[in-house]
Amino acid sequence: LASIEVDVSALEPGMSLTVKWRGKPVFIRNRTEKEVEEANAVQLAELKDPVARNANVDSAADATDLARSAGEGKENWIVMIGSCTHLGCVPLGQAGDFGGWFCPCHGSHYDTAGRIRKGPAPTNLPVPTFAFTSDTVITIG
Ligand code: FES
Repeated sequence: LASIEVDVSALEPGMSLTVKWRGKPVFIRNRTEKEVEEANAVQLAELKDPVARNANVDSAADATDLARSAGEGKENWIVMIGSCTHLGCVPLGQAGDFGGWFCPCHGSHYDTAGRIRKGPAPTNLPVPTFAFTSDTVITIG
């Protein structure tokens, strides 16, 4: 199962796209400045899961907003597997108590960095292997 290329040139700040990769939904979001600021304001001690869960960074990395994002200079972009870490429902975007994602199945609330903040899900939404292969194209996998 190969990697996929996604053209994100049409995604203005505040817009998202869901693509299918290896049979799973992948959320791609161009976050607003406010969303990034909100995620940055969260202390690691407040997090239920303090680990980045980002396949592109060290497996022990902290779940800072930067470590959850597409990285330096691309902090506005977040790419995550859209499968609730509780039992796999697809969370809804821009919903829930933290303005990120909300899983309606049993009420898990994720923040604007996709980190679990409330509810039964044990871990942050995982970030798959991906890279910007041009200014407007993300390759996932
Ligand atoms: Fe998402 Fe249970 S599957 S909260």
